[in-house]
Amino acid sequence: MREITVSGVRPTGKQHLGNYLGAVVNFVRMQEEYNGFFFIADLHSLTTHPHPADLQTNIRQTLIEYLACGLDPDKCTLFAQSDLPQISELYLIFNMFAYDGELHKVPTFKDKVRDQPDNVNAGLLTYPVLMAVDIVIHHAVKVPVGKDQMQHIEMARNFVNRFNHLYKVDYFKEPFGFTYNDKPLSVPSLDGEGKMSKSKGENSVIYLADEPDVIRKKVMKAKTDSGPTTPNEDKPEMIQNIFDLMSLVSTSETVSFFDEQYNKCAIRYGDMKKQLAEDMVTFLTPVRERIKELSADQAYLNKVLRDGGEKARISAGKTISEVREIIGLKSH
Ligand code: ADP
Ligand code: TRP
Repeated sequence: MREITVSGVRPTGKQHLGNYLGAVVNFVRMQEEYNGFFFIADLHSLTTHPHPADLQTNIRQTLIEYLACGLDPDKCTLFAQSDLPQISELYLIFNMFAYDGELHKVPTFKDKVRDQPDNVNAGLLTYPVLMAVDIVIHHAVKVPVGKDQMQHIEMARNFVNRFNHLYKVDYFKEPFGFTYNDKPLSVPSLDGEGKMSKSKGENSVIYLADEPDVIRKKVMKAKTDSGPTTPNEDKPEMIQNIFDLMSLVSTSETVSFFDEQYNKCAIRYGDMKKQLAEDMVTFLTPVRERIKELSADQAYLNKVLRDGGEKARISAGKTISEVREIIGLKSH
């Protein structure tokens, strides 16, 4: 029996290099050897009250972009979260194992309270509960996500343990974050600070669908300083970020070349960014072309979600009837 893996993304519009290389690239590799479930987290995105037409468009766009990255419906189960009513039912049940105090302490919740003080709804507070359910409903053990999601997975382990303990069963397995790298990857932003994220503004993010000229413009605008003045100086964050981005899309010879130039205080950031832009264009061109091809085939996209939903409902349906049995709920 293949091990089970689950991952998902919120349909919040265009996906970027950080989402791709930080999370999805691991799933693309895992689908070869795991029983993989990958879903569009449309219920999660309701916390921001999207316009219905926008939500529909974003679900399609997200599906297209991840198919273009290499998710393959013949190798994994691809579905929309809302096509599994069992998720909403198990979410209600798992809310009984999540405590107000711990939910209020979650850093991602605190960020939302700061960023959107006018919409601090209960769905935001219980986001980690829904995420735990997404994972355990298929009994997944490995969950490929970026670093920022690790705390949610730790909470999923707590909910699972409380369920098993209360009902004296060994039913749900503990899930863990997973990456093929030594540690979870954080793809840097182009604005000199922190990780690439859509919340940081258009110019600091490279979208998978960006045209070559847009990529070139954004990379050339990336922040750099006036350069090192003594040999072998430590690199400040904004410069390290450019090197880190380069190591994701360029050859190791290219990175070593610019590293040597830096250490000799001979680096020309303009040349380095030009090279980085070209390597990024080369890296993303097959993805962008595939995005265009897939966008024209709506019938195929519908079929992917319909078939995936059907398969995922079987797995989720089995879990929910077993849970009902364990907790003493019966159909009358
Ligand atoms: P954003 O920060 O742009 O809103 P999301 O929160 O939608 O991105 O993240 C979707 C997935 O991509 C998550 O698994 C997250 O950990 C991962 N991810 C997002 N940005 C990065 C990044 N810069 N580096 C690594 N992983 C990332
Ligand atoms: N919270 C994740 C994000 O913001 C998306 C997500 C929802 C998810 N449910 C999940 C990821 C279950 C992995 C497993 O990116």
